Amino acid sequence: MFWTMHLTAGLVTAAVLSATVNAAIIRQESLSNSLNPYPGKPRVTFRPDGTFKITVFSDLHYGENAWDAWGPQQDVNSTILMNKVLPSENPDYVVLNGDLITGENGFKENATVYIDEIVAPLNHLQIKFSSTHGNHDNEANISHIEEIRREQLVAPLYSYTRTAPPGIGGPSGPGTYWVPVYTDNKASTPSLILWFFDSQGGFSENPDSQPLPDWVDDTVAGWIEEQTAMMDAAWGPAAQHRGSLAFVHIPPHAIQNVQATLDNTTDPGLNDDLLGEGSTQATTDPANNGKDDAFWVALNTHVKNLHAVISGHDHGNEWCAREPTQNVIFCFDKHSGYGGYSSATWGHGVRNIVFTSTNPQASLETWIRLEAGDTRGRVVLDKNYH
Ligand SMILES: *[C@@H]1O[C@H](CO)[C@@H](O)[C@H](O)[C@H]1NC(C)=O
Ligand SMILES: *[C@@H]1O[C@H](CO)[C@@H](O)[C@H](O)[C@H]1NC(C)=O
Ligand SMILES: *[C@@H]1O[C@H](CO)[C@@H](O)[C@H](O)[C@H]1NC(C)=O
Ligand SMILES: *[C@@H]1O[C@H](CO)[C@@H](O)[C@H](O)[C@H]1NC(C)=O
Repeated sequence: MFWTMHLTAGLVTAAVLSATVNAAIIRQESLSNSLNPYPGKPRVTFRPDGTFKITVFSDLHYGENAWDAWGPQQDVNSTILMNKVLPSENPDYVVLNGDLITGENGFKENATVYIDEIVAPLNHLQIKFSSTHGNHDNEANISHIEEIRREQLVAPLYSYTRTAPPGIGGPSGPGTYWVPVYTDNKASTPSLILWFFDSQGGFSENPDSQPLPDWVDDTVAGWIEEQTAMMDAAWGPAAQHRGSLAFVHIPPHAIQNVQATLDNTTDPGLNDDLLGEGSTQATTDPANNGKDDAFWVALNTHVKNLHAVISGHDHGNEWCAREPTQNVIFCFDKHSGYGGYSSATWGHGVRNIVFTSTNPQASLETWIRLEAGDTRGRVVLDKNYH
């Protein structure tokens, strides 16, 4: 009897203990899962020589006027451009920085089918990539989440695009996430974090399609703080250990004031789109001006060694410049797609970004490459920039 009781008590204690241990293990696992977001995929790594090259395709605008000859021809042209640029640039990673599809021309039953065309060259050349989404990717017959699911379905090996946890990013902005880049396959912690933010925009889906907010949702600010704290706890302080680079389709609102301060020598590149309502975040409804501040402040407060923030959206701009309120470098992409508004003299191309070292504070080089191979707007991004 005594022994039985003793045994039972011991078992209960063991059960309680093991429940506590299990809970701790589960907490540990979910923490390590969230810090290891691609358990089934190869790591994104620097090259053995310590460099890492990103090529950004922006505003591809596939799927315009499927019923006219010129719409599909534009897409053929954009695919030709990708197939010309990718083998000659040979990037380690590709970013599709929003407005992949001109959603307003899509049909409910097949609006995301253009994703298949867009990712085909990346699948073929086996290049790792991920996407942000733009205002044209949210329309009556299409949404960011539908494009993300399609991309994950048709590029299961090479797409690193993820969705934000439930409740983060707002209902029309699910595409907020980060991708770790490691020095090599043995490194215990990443040396670079690529951040991707969903600036929403466009319209909600049928039947009652309504304008959506065109800024990164305020919930993302808390998520940035939480993610960076978790990284610091597990991987050591970011300032010494990790660099960062951020991508968001619509430029942050603060970029609007930067245009007036451009210096053509230090901030080279096309400057043909005057920024105003609709060209930066939170400008559709004047009452929302400044609404992106929570995101912008959180990004620049909590993300250390943030080398630059890269946006598309305004097809006639290619410049980089320093945003003085947060002291961070901002760069426009290069309009890549034959779809979307354009001007005969702008041309089409990509922005290349090269990390010259795995040192998280080392400078980056970036430039515009046009379809035929000519380059312009080359700048070195470091603390001395402008
Ligand atoms: C496709 O590209 C060719 C060659 O650059 C150009 O002449 C033509 O206008 C383009 N077509 C469309 C529909 O964009
Ligand atoms: C959406 O898709 C439906 C079904 O294909 C089509 O009838 C409609 O014209 C499309 N466009 C919009 C804006 O609803
Ligand atoms: C998408 O659906 C529309 C309407 O049903 C059709 O006309 C069009 O050819 C389809 N497009 C593609 C790329 O399959
Ligand atoms: C710099 O000058 C060139 C040539 O005049 C012009 O095309 C470009 O838009 C200018 N860029 C800026 C940033 O002012």
